[in-house]
Amino acid sequence: MKKKLRSSEWFGKNDKMGFVHRSWLRNQGYPDDHFRGRPVIGICNTWSDLTPCNGHLRDFAEIVKKGVLEAGGFPLEFPVMSLGETIMRPTTMLFRNLVSMDVEESIRANPIDGVVLLTGCDKTTPATLMGACSVDLPTLVVPGGPMLNGRYKGGSIGSGSFNWMIKEKQKTEDFSDEDLMEAEICAARSPGHCNTMGTASTMATMAETLGLTLPGMSAIPAVDARKKVLAQLSGRRIVEMVDEDLKLSKILTREAFENSIVVNAAVGGSTNLIVHLLAIAGRIGVGLTLEDFDAIGSKIPLLVNLMPSGKFLMEDYFYAGGLPVVLNELDGMLHGDCLTVNGKTIRENNEKAVCYNREVIFSIDEPLKKEAGIAVLKGNLCENGAVIKPSAATPKLMKHRGKAVVFESMEDYHERIDDPNLEIDENSVIVLKGVGPKGYPGMPEVGNVDLPEKLILKGVKDMVRISDGRMSGTAYGTVVLHVSPESAVGGTLALVQNGDFIELDVENRRLHLDVSDEELARRKAHWNAPEALAERGYVKLYIDHVEQAEKGCDLDILAGKSGSEVARDLH
Ligand code: FES
Repeated sequence: MKKKLRSSEWFGKNDKMGFVHRSWLRNQGYPDDHFRGRPVIGICNTWSDLTPCNGHLRDFAEIVKKGVLEAGGFPLEFPVMSLGETIMRPTTMLFRNLVSMDVEESIRANPIDGVVLLTGCDKTTPATLMGACSVDLPTLVVPGGPMLNGRYKGGSIGSGSFNWMIKEKQKTEDFSDEDLMEAEICAARSPGHCNTMGTASTMATMAETLGLTLPGMSAIPAVDARKKVLAQLSGRRIVEMVDEDLKLSKILTREAFENSIVVNAAVGGSTNLIVHLLAIAGRIGVGLTLEDFDAIGSKIPLLVNLMPSGKFLMEDYFYAGGLPVVLNELDGMLHGDCLTVNGKTIRENNEKAVCYNREVIFSIDEPLKKEAGIAVLKGNLCENGAVIKPSAATPKLMKHRGKAVVFESMEDYHERIDDPNLEIDENSVIVLKGVGPKGYPGMPEVGNVDLPEKLILKGVKDMVRISDGRMSGTAYGTVVLHVSPESAVGGTLALVQNGDFIELDVENRRLHLDVSDEELARRKAHWNAPEALAERGYVKLYIDHVEQAEKGCDLDILAGKSGSEVARDLH
């Protein structure tokens, strides 16, 4: 017997409210049978002209609808706030939690039995998943896919990663404004999200590894016909998932999250996975900690040779076999019996995967690097933790002692970094304060700040940089991120002064400010909290409630779930 549909509470009654719920929707021309026992599939669309990485998702919504109709469901698309990484100020991360609230309440308030999340640009995946977890209906992710490889002057150019080279190119090479404009269109030459293993690709990889996409979907370029096929099949599959009551909480187990940590290391994924995975786990009710990322992931080998940790781009990765090959290679390190949205286990889905290019995807026996996962640092400078991505760092800087050059804010940094009189050399440690969750607000991707012009001209390529901010998944360098507690709440980071010595020792997971406890206590006594950055609105709500990085930067009032029940009708 088919289970009673949630949507029948709206559409299944022959009374006044049944009339109200159906009649207005019928102005779109839906036949009566759409309201009689068909699972209603909400298609949550993060399309926006202002989110170029998701610009093709209106087309994808139509494709998913076809699949839903073919399987006997009733598709209803709904928009949510979108987050365009390259345009929104001050940072999309400020709005991730707002989108999650939008998604959660849009699903819960409406007659929806199952959900398809259309995602692409970085935050659109975690934000929609966080919201969906707090309702916990059958849910499937359709990742929009990466752009085609960037091609520029006969070589590859990675969208995202190229940005970080521009200052250096302009200072040290014959790189004109015309070159810049040509590179712009060459880096982004088709619909889709960044074509490196940046945060968007990392999030799509996360969704597939967690078991939330059809197998093999995450790496397919946005314009490849096979993406459309899987979008249509996703539409069919979500209808079956409603019938099977295959809810998010049945797929998102502790083991599935552990798989995601392992795979993120093997693909050289973004450090942003940490704050997003912690937040998603917090919504679905799985206990995950910052320390898990080091304990589970740091010894995992790097298998994928993709920018920013390596050489190739997402299109090459897909042609080499994509994530299924990585999952197959990692089989012995994964929980292979984790369930996925197609009803099979992650092992069953990927055990026949074949690699077509070993320059792009390495084998577990001969990895690209032996250990690639994120390292979690502790010490008096980051009592609740900080992170570094060793695969993107310079090996000789992983153990380093240097004098701090302190910037009190991002504005302070911009004002002074290229001052010829700034006392700084390649052994200095750049310390940036005020870019944490509460301090900016929103914890922007600024941790990999550009080096000073005078050192770039000397040929310096990397320096140790420390902040309470994040780093773009497309970026690289010896960059210590997510320092917690952040400076805006009076963490030790707030007390660092120019000339203090800082010791970074990644092997021993240590980040130490070489200043006595007595002196730190004296500085703390004179420390003044920054002025409030907002007196009203969402930004005030955010600052008042956002958690620190080691807890995933969710709002404290949003942890957990409220489920799908709504007790009251609208009349
Ligand atoms: Fe959208 Fe990189 S800017 S994915």
